Amino acid sequence: MSYSIKTTLIQESKIKSVDINNIIMGYSFTDHMFICDYENGEWHNPRIEPLALIPTHPAAMALHYGQAIFEGMKATLGKDETPLLFRPDENAKRLNFSADRMGMPIFPEELFIEGLKKLVALDKKWIPTATGSALYLRPFMYADEPFIGMRAATSFKFIIMASPSGPLYTKKIKLYAEKKYVRAVNGGTGEAKAAGNYAAAIRPTEYAKAKGFDQVLWLDAQDFEYIQEVGTMNIFFKIDGKFITPSLTGSILSGITRMSVIDLLRSKGFEVTERPITITEIIEASQKGTLEEAFGTGTAVGIAMIEEIGNNNLSIKFPEANPVSVMVNDTLNAIKVQDIADEFGWIVEAK
Ligand SMILES: Cc1ncc(COP(=O)(O)O)c(C=O)c1O
Repeated sequence: MSYSIKTTLIQESKIKSVDINNIIMGYSFTDHMFICDYENGEWHNPRIEPLALIPTHPAAMALHYGQAIFEGMKATLGKDETPLLFRPDENAKRLNFSADRMGMPIFPEELFIEGLKKLVALDKKWIPTATGSALYLRPFMYADEPFIGMRAATSFKFIIMASPSGPLYTKKIKLYAEKKYVRAVNGGTGEAKAAGNYAAAIRPTEYAKAKGFDQVLWLDAQDFEYIQEVGTMNIFFKIDGKFITPSLTGSILSGITRMSVIDLLRSKGFEVTERPITITEIIEASQKGTLEEAFGTGTAVGIAMIEEIGNNNLSIKFPEANPVSVMVNDTLNAIKVQDIADEFGWIVEAK
């Protein structure tokens, strides 16, 4: 199905105000945004407009009751300068999974992809080309109905904006194994990409950073023993030649990088098991000398190599060499710019 997306162009591009290949993630935004309104039970008026402030009623329900969800993805430039998206269908599905969990309306997946393609094609000159850089895309949905009272809102906005970004971590990271605060509980909203999950993580992440760590390693809410995920990443360990990653138990976000890395590692002949993983077994593997590598996976960070997991009573150091993590990072980056063939069918052209 083809949607009619009305486009209003910016009068003068702001691109000259940024050094596109030398940019810190999150501060600069492209010229346009995609926007669509939900009212009377349906989505209407999909459009692309110059990025601008949106008038918000002080009683907009997202501000009070947190009906707000988002996605994160990246666009890169292919060999013939065609903008490329990485598995956008998976983001569309996950957005709707989050919407359903948070009592929000489903957004049509074809319109999600068409809106993305149109926006990225229009703001193509904002896609950085330096290695590890990309145009970060932020689709999100929030309740904009002005109402005070606890029920699902009846009007929402769905917006996609774009922000050029360089690589996030240029060195190995240290994770703080958090034993006081939790990110998610079974039956909670951890499996959804709900804005409130991130709000709850802000203070513990500040505490971890103040102790010299880069990110929090979240453990399960009951025993503080089972490894869940990291900040905005899923996590993989290589022990005795084999990979393990925590299974999706209902409180972990199902990362698109995670699912891609599982397929990539298996295609290279590695055994990958999704199962519950305890912090104790990581300590034991470290003591036995079988703990080989660990990395985080996420759209914003790509592959983040891990140097240490610690807290006040713990310090697990990883070997310096991490050849498989480097291979995974390089292969994903190469697929995303068509330096190597996309044998998995992950890349979608935005034109
Ligand atoms: C909590 C959390 N876990 C994991 C991930 C990794 O997911 P993806 O690989 O789809 O970016 C993210 C990023 O979206 C995240 O916010």
